[in-house]
Amino acid sequence: MAVERTLSIIKPDATRRNLTGKINARFEEKGLRIVGQKRLQLTRAQAEAFYGVHRERSFFGELVDFMISGPVVVQVLEGENAVLANREIMGATNPANAEPGTIRADFAESIEANSVHGSDSLENANREVSFFFSEIEIAG
Ligand code: PPS
Repeated sequence: MAVERTLSIIKPDATRRNLTGKINARFEEKGLRIVGQKRLQLTRAQAEAFYGVHRERSFFGELVDFMISGPVVVQVLEGENAVLANREIMGATNPANAEPGTIRADFAESIEANSVHGSDSLENANREVSFFFSEIEIAG
């Protein structure tokens, strides 16, 4: 098993409802360690750049508007197979399809306001961690 790092974002719907601690507990209970964390108000340019891969999708404008609608908490999670482990802890993108006990099943409001983002591959995790963090901001 490989120790990996993945990027997590606690989204504006969750910070608005003061769920940061409850969500962090899910990661820690399942063996992921929060080795970097900061609360940010994203600019439109930052959100557009981060989600650039979705630029052509019909929902891109709404996704960006939502991600700048309030503060987010960006985090680096570390652990065995952290990318996949975090995807399992989060549950499916659409909370209607998320397994009971996952963050999205328990907290998300909709496919847009779905409480958390997590990198979907190790390659994207490395890129996304670098987007928000420098090495001195991560302490494993
Ligand atoms: S899909 O439909 O499964 O292909 O969507 P996915 O690629 O997993 O979604 C990418 C991110 O876009 C968000 N999303 C939406 N936002 C607003 N409106 C609609 N309809 C919508 N559909 C998907 C979704 O929450 C994903 O966000 P991240 O942060 O990547 O999890």
